[in-house]
Amino acid sequence: MAAPLDDQALDQLFRTARTFNHYRDEPVGEDTLRALWDLLKMAPTSANQLPARFVWCVSDEAKATLAAACSDTNRDKVLKAPVSVVIGMDVEFHDHLPELFPHVDAKSWFDGNRELREASAFRNSSLQGGYLILAARALGLDVGPMSGFDAGAVDKAFFADTPAVRTNFIATLGYGDAATLHPRNPRPAFETFNRLA
Ligand SMILES: Cc1cc2nc3c(=O)[nH]c(=O)nc-3n(C[C@H](O)[C@H](O)[C@H](O)COP(=O)(O)O)c2cc1C
Repeated sequence: MAAPLDDQALDQLFRTARTFNHYRDEPVGEDTLRALWDLLKMAPTSANQLPARFVWCVSDEAKATLAAACSDTNRDKVLKAPVSVVIGMDVEFHDHLPELFPHVDAKSWFDGNRELREASAFRNSSLQGGYLILAARALGLDVGPMSGFDAGAVDKAFFADTPAVRTNFIATLGYGDAATLHPRNPRPAFETFNRLA
């Protein structure tokens, strides 16, 4: 059985980790993005579907394209971050199941059932977006997830040639500038949103 992580690790992943909108002027290299994928891909999705499709915007051009589809409040964040990422979801993820989940015919569970694929792709790509945040923090990076954007415009800009892929949410990535943080908002005690049944 694995031992619990130490306090320093728990702080870095959860307790002192924050959402960032502003980053220090430190680049995030492709090797770091590959290391991030190599961690997040190991976290679970149902039937190993891995429906998320990530577009890492590292060029000024790609960031400008993404920024153009963002709300006024998010535009500058995307432009100025070292990396901005689109977390898409592939509703044809089942085509990969013979390779990703080979011991049963899992593809047949989803063939002809678009509604099930939509629900499954959304659920599991959202999880993968969460795994991205935690994997990034584990690597010493900071993340700023965002839902303030025009999904149709982001789809058109980044997934026009793969119409089965649609945008779930977007995020910025880098080494956060702690001086720009506002005070942490409340996180309720167990009793508030939990019950034992
Ligand atoms: C899915 C998602 C969408 C979000 N959308 C936006 C957004 O559009 N713009 C923004 O400034 N922050 C956005 N946030 C940031 C949240 O407000 C922030 O993560 C939350 O308040 C927790 O902040 P903390 O990690 O600093 O405690 C989003 C966060 C998540 C997880």
